[in-house]
Amino acid sequence: MKVAVFSTKPYDQRFLSGAAGSERHEFLFLEDRLNERNPALAAGCLAVCAFVNDELNATTLKLLAERGVRLIALRCAGFNQVDVKAADALGISVRRVPAYSPYAVAEFALGLILTLNRKYHRAFNRVREGNFGIDGLLGFDLHGKTVGLIGTGKIGLLTAKPLGAMGCRLLGCDPFPNPEFIGLGGEYVELPALLTASDIISLHCPLDRSSFHLINAQTLAKMKRGVMIINTSRGALIDAAALIGALKSGQVGYLGLDVYEQEADIFYEDLSGEIIQDDVLQRLLTFPNVMITSHQAYFTDTALRNIAETTIANLDDFEHGRPSSNEVKAERGTAAR
Ligand code: NAI
Repeated sequence: MKVAVFSTKPYDQRFLSGAAGSERHEFLFLEDRLNERNPALAAGCLAVCAFVNDELNATTLKLLAERGVRLIALRCAGFNQVDVKAADALGISVRRVPAYSPYAVAEFALGLILTLNRKYHRAFNRVREGNFGIDGLLGFDLHGKTVGLIGTGKIGLLTAKPLGAMGCRLLGCDPFPNPEFIGLGGEYVELPALLTASDIISLHCPLDRSSFHLINAQTLAKMKRGVMIINTSRGALIDAAALIGALKSGQVGYLGLDVYEQEADIFYEDLSGEIIQDDVLQRLLTFPNVMITSHQAYFTDTALRNIAETTIANLDDFEHGRPSSNEVKAERGTAAR
């Protein structure tokens, strides 16, 4: 099957081409990010392989359908970037990679917590410049602190595990409680209680209508003063503009973002020689207690291998008319479990 692979980086090409069964498909690797203006690039392809920042809205999907595209094979778990209802109406199947390495994301979230707290990044720079002073690097013991996990599915649970082992109190908020979280000693509470009681809040729920801007000026005001917020899930879970005031006032004491609402034109690009026009992002980057990474929590060799293998399986299944549990249907809404 001929497949147009959008938003391709050299590593995507390497892992997809190297996966078993890749020889069964013809990949057209494109660096372009898919949007309403460029579906013509997929002309002659039965499938489009897309990533987190490709824009698969109703217009893009209609233009793809007109060019013969019948399958969207996502190289990711989240599908908030796809208008699944429009795809269904157009007869386009949407298939995703539901789990490629929840470990990768959970380990990264833990890394953000430890780095923001103990300031490894600043210590690294200081020592290399011959500054062996530690004033300004003061951290806190994680032991005994309360961590609130919003979303206790695969990644939330794996983030909770090491934190529980370190002696943190675990609070969770999830419409579908996970018995394994309770098994860790975790306690389910409603969102307002989690916000007021947590020293660290880590987001692990999907982005959908119910979770859009879940963290905003009002919810920030309910949190403990000096709270640490970690987002490795999706940018639009947080109203980023509201973070600036909260950081300036000290209401937010630490912020770790691997995702950002307006990341689509910025993340994964080398803009070191450009004038970045996003004032919110630029202001956030000036705070010493903020760490922003470029949607890389998933980025491990294991994850890339699993993404490639599941993507090939999704292409094979579609080609042979086989149903797949990786298919996303409109009636399930946008939230995946
Ligand atoms: P999952 O489906 O296993 O777990 C998500 C959990 O969130 C479910 O238990 C669900 O019931 C819960 N949930 C849904 N709406 C909620 C709400 N409004 N409030 C609280 N909980 C809610 O998904 P998984 O694998 O744990 O992934 C979580 C998210 O992580 C994905 O949706 C994706 O957006 C993000 N992700 C980020 C990556 C990165 O590289 N930064 C890589 C992979 C996933």
